[in-house]
Amino acid sequence: PPQPLVDRFGRQVRYVRLSVTDRCDFRCVYCMSEKMTFLPREEVLSLEELGRIASVFVSLGVEKIRLTGGEPLVRRDLPELVEFIGQLGLKDFAMTTNGSQLPRFAKTLKAAGLKRLNISLDSLQADKFQRITRKGELAQVLAGIEAAQVAGFERIKLNAVIMRGRNEDEVLDLVEFVRDRGLDISFIEEMPLGEVSDHGRDETFCSSDEVRRIIETRYPLQHVPTQTGGPSRYYQMPDHSSQIGFISPHSHNFCGDCNRVRVTVEGRLLLCLGNEHAVDLRPYLRDYPTDNEPLRQALIEAMDLKPERHHFTTDGEVQILRFMNMTGG
Ligand code: GTP
Ligand code: 5AD
Ligand code: SF4
Repeated sequence: PPQPLVDRFGRQVRYVRLSVTDRCDFRCVYCMSEKMTFLPREEVLSLEELGRIASVFVSLGVEKIRLTGGEPLVRRDLPELVEFIGQLGLKDFAMTTNGSQLPRFAKTLKAAGLKRLNISLDSLQADKFQRITRKGELAQVLAGIEAAQVAGFERIKLNAVIMRGRNEDEVLDLVEFVRDRGLDISFIEEMPLGEVSDHGRDETFCSSDEVRRIIETRYPLQHVPTQTGGPSRYYQMPDHSSQIGFISPHSHNFCGDCNRVRVTVEGRLLLCLGNEHAVDLRPYLRDYPTDNEPLRQALIEAMDLKPERHHFTTDGEVQILRFMNMTGG
């Protein structure tokens, strides 16, 4: 079949990150300001509109959809959308979650057709976890991870944003945690999205190479080919199946093989996480409630707007005013 979602640099979009809410029960320091205001409900796409966007993307060759937030599981009736998207025949269908609601939802999500979960976990110490998430409760997230395993999710992956002075001393503990439980993990370099003034990003930057050196004081790491189509570069320990990934927007730019776009819950198609290039999809949804063709054309034409790369720096300057919870990471 023809593959129309190709940009000016020859990159084909096969991966869509669909944000289903900007709301969240946490306020992670790297993601939000403490006093965050959220979108009024009337600005938010309906589950049906989100489903339409997903199905049109699939008709254009998209093979992987990841639901993001905010925290996707605070969106009411989300399992209905999961069920709808689960029937579109995707190769990969995943969600990124903070885990807090998984004790309640893990089983339902699995039954509704979700294939994979990435769960954010930056600390294994309750007080530190609380300082990083401001509102999170570690025990609840640990119970969420367990619920996901019990529900039968395979290849559950943790995401840890590593920050000097906050949690870089927990790298080895996190590695032991995933080894003990047969999980995977990605270590992430923090990105400058949104003004998070009480958290000094220039002081906390910790490169993936530093994280890797810490791990290699205990385990030699062997590079393995990337499998998920995400930005992580994966490694393995010699005697173990857990995959250890590094997402290094600053130190190892991965834009050259970018395969993804994002849709915000306001219906803005973002062509790159680190740029403002965007198309408002709402008119194509709302002016044509039963005809998907205009939306299809809009998505195809939007490919020309995809920029070559992001230009993040680590000097503490905010490059993108939009907060991460609007973007879904
Ligand atoms: P897999 O499907 O398991 O590979 O997941 P993923 O890494 O694609 O998604 P996840 O939601 O777990 O994101 C992990 C981190 O990668 C988050 O911090 C995202 O912001 C970041 N990330 C994902 N895609 C991009 C991208 O295109 N550019 C940048 N700069 N960061 C990205
Ligand atoms: N930089 C890097 N990663 C971030 N995340 C949220 N904000 C940032 C940021 N500023 C991560 C979360 C979650 C994923 C969706 O993105 O920890 O795991
Ligand atoms: Fe919520 Fe995720 Fe942002 Fe943390 S990173 S505040 S869990 S949306």
